[in-house]
Amino acid sequence: MTDTRDALIDAARDAASRAYAPYSGFHVGAALLLKNGDVVTGANVENASYGLTLCAETTAVAKIANEGWIGELAEVAIIGGRPEGDALIGSDPVNPCGRCRQILNEAAERSKTDILVHCASGDGSAVTTYRLSELLPAAFGPKDLGMIPD
Ligand code: THU
Repeated sequence: MTDTRDALIDAARDAASRAYAPYSGFHVGAALLLKNGDVVTGANVENASYGLTLCAETTAVAKIANEGWIGELAEVAIIGGRPEGDALIGSDPVNPCGRCRQILNEAAERSKTDILVHCASGDGSAVTTYRLSELLPAAFGPKDLGMIPD
C-alpha cells in the first residue's frame, strides 16, 4: 500500500462515477499519473452500436495525447464495477483489456517507462499491481518503427 497508489485509485473511482455505460452497467475509471505529478482521468463511453465503445484507459490516453503529454506517463490505476448509490460493487480487480494494453503501451514507450498498472476492484478490497511489460510482453510499439531515440 502506497500513498501514490491509493490516490490514483481514488481518482480512478471518481472518474468511474462519470462513465457513460448504460448498456453494460459496468463503470470503469482510469487515472494516469504524469511525471510532473498531475493526474488525468478517463471513464468508459459506450455506444448504441456496442462495438464502438471506448474504454476508460483509451479515453484517458486520448486526453493526454491531445494535450501533448503522451511522453509524460508515469503510472496508471484502473477500477471498475457496478454502481450502487455512490459505491462501486465488485470484489475482483479489473484488468485492462487487450486493446487498452496496446494503447497504454504507446504512451509508456513514448515515456520511456515500464509503467506500473494498479488494477483495483470496485469495492477497493483487492488491488493487483503489474508492470505493463507483464500485461503486454514483447509488445509492438513506436520503438519498432524507430520512433524512440536513445
Ligand atoms: N472496459 C473498460 O473501460 N476498460 C477495460 O479495460 C475493460 C472494459 C469497459 C468497456 C465496457 O463499457 C464495459 O467495461 C464492459 O465491458
